[in-house]
Amino acid sequence: TRLFISRDSTALSLGAELVAQTLQQHTAGQNIEIIRNGSRGLFWLEPLIEVETDAGRVAYGPVQPEDVASLLASGLLEGKQHPLYLGDIEALPYFKNQNRLTFARVGITDPVSLDDYLAHDGYRGLKNALALQPADIVKQVTESGLRGRGGAAFPTGIKWNTVLNAPAEQKYIVCNADEGDSGTFSDRMIMEGDPFVLIEGMTIAGLAVGATQGYIYLRIEYPHAKIALNQAIAAAYENGYLGENIQGSGKTFHLEVRSGAGAYVCGEETSLLESLEGKRGLVRFKPPLPAIVGLFGKPTIVNNVISLASIPVILDKGGEYYKNFGLGRSRGTLPIQLAGNIKHGGLFEAAFGVTLRELLYDYGGGSASGRPIRAVQVGGPLGAYMPESQFDTPLDYEAFAAIGAVLGHGGIVVHDDTTSLADMARYAMEFCVEESCGKCTPCRIGSTRGVEVIDRILDNVDKAKNTELLRDLCDTMTCGSLCAMGGMTPYPVLSALNHFPEDFGLQATKA
Ligand code: NAI
Ligand code: SF4
Repeated sequence: TRLFISRDSTALSLGAELVAQTLQQHTAGQNIEIIRNGSRGLFWLEPLIEVETDAGRVAYGPVQPEDVASLLASGLLEGKQHPLYLGDIEALPYFKNQNRLTFARVGITDPVSLDDYLAHDGYRGLKNALALQPADIVKQVTESGLRGRGGAAFPTGIKWNTVLNAPAEQKYIVCNADEGDSGTFSDRMIMEGDPFVLIEGMTIAGLAVGATQGYIYLRIEYPHAKIALNQAIAAAYENGYLGENIQGSGKTFHLEVRSGAGAYVCGEETSLLESLEGKRGLVRFKPPLPAIVGLFGKPTIVNNVISLASIPVILDKGGEYYKNFGLGRSRGTLPIQLAGNIKHGGLFEAAFGVTLRELLYDYGGGSASGRPIRAVQVGGPLGAYMPESQFDTPLDYEAFAAIGAVLGHGGIVVHDDTTSLADMARYAMEFCVEESCGKCTPCRIGSTRGVEVIDRILDNVDKAKNTELLRDLCDTMTCGSLCAMGGMTPYPVLSALNHFPEDFGLQATKA
């Protein structure tokens, strides 16, 4: 009998390791195989046990070590009933209503088994790519409509085309795996739950632009992802999917993982490149773009984990297939992460167009506290706070931009009515103080002054004057900062001020 218990960090933090060990002890001597898969992304049900039966996979959860004996006694191995019985996990509305393209295998396969990857459509995209000219690979990506999933939503095909057309002896593919946004974990889940899909995506990127070396810049806070990636990379090398003469094609692509050191700003692509070169993570001026002058001064694709992990399905099924999901200029799917004060937190991959309200209530089940949801912050610590009146906004880059919000990396952090948005605005400025690289004045000094000005507003010192000053400061930070760190800090601050003025002790007049 085959059983599945996740090796994903979230499941581990909820006790999956002890559950697996307890199950192993109780079934010693029996013909049992425990596979450590990725997480299905239904975090409130972790640790989850799935059992392979004649009728498909049957799930139980959330399981604690003390439940194991009773589960076995009531027929866990045959998929029998038990108070923790969930049936087929894929039949639950939370799972059934997703469009799992990028996450197609996560939670299903053994993440570090190349055989399992191949058995579930793995490396089909690479096979197609090997038969194409570089420009035709780029064309598929352009046609798919894929835009950068790190947050900036820049068209991936255009970025790749710039690198393709930049003449150079050496080019690089750099994966930005410095997932630093609050409430985000989709990069981590892919790297822990299906590392081969990222490796395949990077290899295809290498073929597309003529780059023979790739680096995954991984945040130090992801030790389990590092283990899974390195195991998968080793297996890919051993089986001719990385290295020289990939699958007999004569093409070369090398790949390795490099660890960051815990700076939020190293998720910004140019400071990431500085860090990768062994220097302090200081933001570079743009232009020149990394696509022209990137790592070690060479043309470089810097893409986020999810962007690169979406490439294999595009090359397997075609750009047209991927493009058929979504709406407007937001094509394909977005792995959405539901976090904070939410009952059913986890990962939800959906085509663009789903609304915040559907995500929060139909799938997320409302707040975890049971109190009304007052605000959500979408797109990380630099994203705007959105009030209930904006919950019908469809997930679409342009629709969000039109109301002064950002979709970013798809993280949604939920707050109930006990949150003070003035505190959150102050926190945003404090965060900028902590994480600023220090290169430019509006961010380095502006954020410190920002905390002081918010404190004066909250202390009722010259309220009107200081509110005006705060807006003026935000304007300077938006227009005068070198990168998104200082440039976007005004999003959470101003959205809190505009939508929740009462939290600052102000009248409800909007600027
Ligand atoms: P950006 O808009 O300056 O650039 C986006 C990308 O397009 C960059 O890679 C840039 O080099 C490239 N690009 C622009 N024009 C190009 C051209 N003509 N040819 C080729 N490439 C071109 O945005 P930036 O500063 O890279 O990212 C800001 C975003 O990062 C924010 O919107 C925020 O949502 C997101 N972010 C994500 C975090 C995470 O943890 N995933 C953390 C913090 C911010
Ligand atoms: Fe550095 Fe902040 Fe300026 Fe970005 S905005 S370059 S983080 S000082």
